[in-house]
Amino acid sequence: MVKQTLYEATNAAAAIMKEYANKNFTISNKEGINNLVTEVDHKCEDAIFSIIKKNFPNHNLLSEESGEFAHDSNHKWIIDPLDGTVNYANRIPICCVSIGIEVNGEILMGAVYNPFINEFYFAEKDRGATLNDKSINVSSTDNVKHSCLATGFPYTYLDVENGPLEVFGKLIRKSIPVRRLGSAAMDLCWVAAGRFDGFYEHKLNAWDSAAGYLIVQEAGGKVTDMKGNYYNPYQPGIIATNGIIHQQLLDVILGGDL
Ligand code: IPD
Ligand code: CA
Ligand code: CA
Repeated sequence: MVKQTLYEATNAAAAIMKEYANKNFTISNKEGINNLVTEVDHKCEDAIFSIIKKNFPNHNLLSEESGEFAHDSNHKWIIDPLDGTVNYANRIPICCVSIGIEVNGEILMGAVYNPFINEFYFAEKDRGATLNDKSINVSSTDNVKHSCLATGFPYTYLDVENGPLEVFGKLIRKSIPVRRLGSAAMDLCWVAAGRFDGFYEHKLNAWDSAAGYLIVQEAGGKVTDMKGNYYNPYQPGIIATNGIIHQQLLDVILGGDL
């Protein structure tokens, strides 16, 4: 029932994203210039909420546009109704809905769906990860110097020591391709699918990574915070890799040279 509801909610949000892709919708600014939210983000969130609440009225919810609704439950749905809003607002089809389910503090299930390229990622703890129902695995690249990476840049916190710009500079000066898709959930799924060897970002929120974190882990990858510790989605930094290059990438992020 939980899995079915997860699929239903994910599909409903994706259908709304598609429906509005060729229509006009309102776009407004959150804190800071170009930190956008659209009417579609809210519509997706409403649809997800109503499906979860219909089946599990007492489950806790944490969602980007509405914050937290806490009940007396050990289940928490961690929701990014539309990840990649700037892309969506510019009609760039790299965006998705992302929903992770935490039970007693542990993420046990996650789904990410990009309806524009028809990619539905799903993972359940200890049961592997799938893309459109087919099993997926991380890459086998064993040297960060030969890897293809992805990252994202926050709206603030750019110029600190070992921060986003410094790490990016270090990697691209060594001719390592570092892509910036604009959707952290897609970045994580593409690590899981073996397209990227690794992804890192200095400042994410739990809704950006909850589902993608489990999808990478279940595809055989490794996910830690930026110190190499066990990943906790409620702190900002993330490194997600195929596992083999993890320490090498971590060393660079901690200030080492390549
Ligand atoms: C953003 C995207 C982006 C990442 C930002 C996120 P949003 O989420 O995932 O790739 O770099 O940190 O905030 O705002 O499009 O849901
Ligand atoms: Ca997001
Ligand atoms: Ca979002």
